[in-house]
Amino acid sequence: LSTWNIRAALKWAHETLLSEGISEARITAEMLLAHVLDMDRFKLYLKPDDMLNDSQSNQFRHQVDQRCKGTPVQHLIGHVSFMGHELRVDHTVLIPRFETEELVEQTLTRLPDDVALNFLDAGTGSGAIAIALLKARPNLQGVALDQSETALETAQKNASLNGIIDRLTFKCSDWLKEIDTSFDLIISNPPYIRSADIDTLAPEVRDHDPRQALDGGPDGLDAIRILSQQATSHLRSGGWFLLEIGHDQSTEVVAILEKLGFKAVTVYPDLAKLDRMVEARWEG
Ligand SMILES: C[S@@+](CC[C@H](N)C(=O)[O-])C[C@H]1O[C@@H](n2cnc3c(N)ncnc32)[C@H](O)[C@@H]1O
Repeated sequence: LSTWNIRAALKWAHETLLSEGISEARITAEMLLAHVLDMDRFKLYLKPDDMLNDSQSNQFRHQVDQRCKGTPVQHLIGHVSFMGHELRVDHTVLIPRFETEELVEQTLTRLPDDVALNFLDAGTGSGAIAIALLKARPNLQGVALDQSETALETAQKNASLNGIIDRLTFKCSDWLKEIDTSFDLIISNPPYIRSADIDTLAPEVRDHDPRQALDGGPDGLDAIRILSQQATSHLRSGGWFLLEIGHDQSTEVVAILEKLGFKAVTVYPDLAKLDRMVEARWEG
């Protein structure tokens, strides 16, 4: 192994990952090697003959092995890019997903950029949504809320790495129980998987994302029901409520929101044409 150069190491990892049925085997091999060598992934191809030392070889082999056993690549390299912003991730937080970037993009199209606005990111996890909103709009300030203390620590680290911590406060709370202020926007990617479906998820998700980030109760809607109810007393008149939901939940979620008195309840498809976002306005 000590005779591996970059080209040989990549070839070995690619073949190993492929043979274990790991999706995106090539890019995974590149990400892991770039991480071990502490270099940009694209630079691997500029130096194919550079040798790995023993410790790098061992670390790389271990990481590929861990990936084959189901650990998500993001946990192995310890970070992820969300809307171009680098976030630290570990077992304390859900790995932010691409669909959630779409939720943030939709939200940004709603928000005026010339008045000061405040928002609540309910169930912030890594802080992905709050950080992306604050990076995009200097007129915003926010509260990042989670029930998990450890998730909040990760979110705090990410806020500071991304230079927006002065506009974000952190709150440990069971949904909005400990919140006594009102917001122009409440946004959330809540847990919405049916409890019984969790065992059927890919092992990367089932065994590595925190269960409380996934489990939405028997019909998947427990968190959405509570949060929607609580949002009615924490939104300013004219405020927005935006949620990410499961692809088959839009009918129920629209009914919940309309029954609570939300207006202009609208469902948006994501790029895969699945109904994954719901927007509503609170007129008070
Ligand atoms: C699906 S994850 C979303 C994480 C992050 N916002 C994202 O989009 O990547 C849901 C988050 O809700 C949090 N959560 C679950 N139950 C909660 C509760 N009762 N009160 C507050 N947060 C809760 C979890 O800890 C988790 O961080």
